[in-house]
Order: sequence, then structure tokens, then C-alpha cells
Amino acid sequence: MSIETLTAAVRNIPDFPIEGIQFKDITTLFQSAEHLKELSDILYERYKDKGITKVVGIESRGFFMGPATAIKLGAGFVPIRKPGKLPYKIIEEKYTKEYGEDCIQIHEDALTENDVVLIHDDLLATGGTMLAAYNLVKKLHVSKIYINFLIELEDLKARELFPKEVELDTILKFSV
Ligand code: PRP
Ligand code: MG
Repeated sequence: MSIETLTAAVRNIPDFPIEGIQFKDITTLFQSAEHLKELSDILYERYKDKGITKVVGIESRGFFMGPATAIKLGAGFVPIRKPGKLPYKIIEEKYTKEYGEDCIQIHEDALTENDVVLIHDDLLATGGTMLAAYNLVKKLHVSKIYINFLIELEDLKARELFPKEVELDTILKFSV
């Protein structure tokens, strides 16, 4: 199955949730068994030789393919969650969104210096969420960090926010 076929399975919803946003609806991609398997196989192929020990998924859309990818890679899964959801000791990272401030959290003992981490989310838009996740994971002094998204909105050029040495990979590209 081609990348074009997968790309065409993403449904574009104009003006959702607010006017001017072209929302990328991945539910139409996930509901097809063939598309879902292809996506899962692509993720596995890209990371199978990287020695990934933990996949970190960002709440909530990073929880769709994150755990599935972890299982295939033989890695553990660690959630990054929105405030007030994780029950143990946390560390957090605040970041600026279009409207006001946001915050994400991770358990302080979820990752160690021996971990090779793949941080996964569905969409790279402004990059604010992933940059915060990257900075959060870095605080736990892991051995190496890879970053993956299912979708990149290329015109927003958010990949430029990340250090050159970080391998940032996206599967499906849209302009906006
Ligand atoms: C969306 C999306 C990414 C983020 C991308 O999540 O799932 O996590 O925004 O935007 P950015 O690159 O501009 O930061 P959202 O915060 O809407 O929450 P959800 O995953 O719970 O739907
Ligand atoms: Mg999200």
C-alpha cells in the first residue's frame, strides 16, 4: 500500500474546531484494518533497528499508535499526560499554546538513563506540544531520543524548532 493511499484515508474537516483550521481526522485511517496494519508495519520498519526500549505517547492521540508500536518493537510504553491524571510523583513542562498556557506531565521514575526513547504523537502542527514533551523526556537523562508523528503540516515548519541531531520522522505530509 502506498503512502498516497494512506494519506488519502485521512479525512480533512474544514473549520474544525475553529474557523480557519483544516482538521486532520485520523479516525478514517484507523477504522480500516488494511490501513491500520500498513501504518503499524511502517512504524515497526522505521524503528526496529534503533534499540528502542520505551515508546512515550502524548495524551491523547499519541495513545492510539504508541502502545501498538511499543508491543511490536518489544519496548515498554510510557504515557505523557495532561495535568492531574498521573497518580505518582511527576515532573512537568509548561508550554505556550495559541490561547494561554498548557502543561504536560510524566512520572519521574518512568524512564532511566539506559532508555532509548521514541516519543510518538499523531500530528506536528506548531510543534509546541512535542517540544514540551522532548524537554520533559530530556529531564530524565535518557540515553537517546527519537521523535515520530503520523502527520506533519509541513508549511508550519515546526521541525525547525528541534535540534538538528534529533531524528524527527513523519509518515504523512500535508501542506496545512
Ligand atoms: C493535538 C495533536 C497534537 C497537538 C499538535 O492535540 O494531537 O498532540 O495538538 O499541535 P502542536 O504541534 O501545535 O502542539 P490536542 O492538544 O488537540 O489534544 P488531543 O491529542 O487530546 O486531541
Ligand atoms: Mg494531541
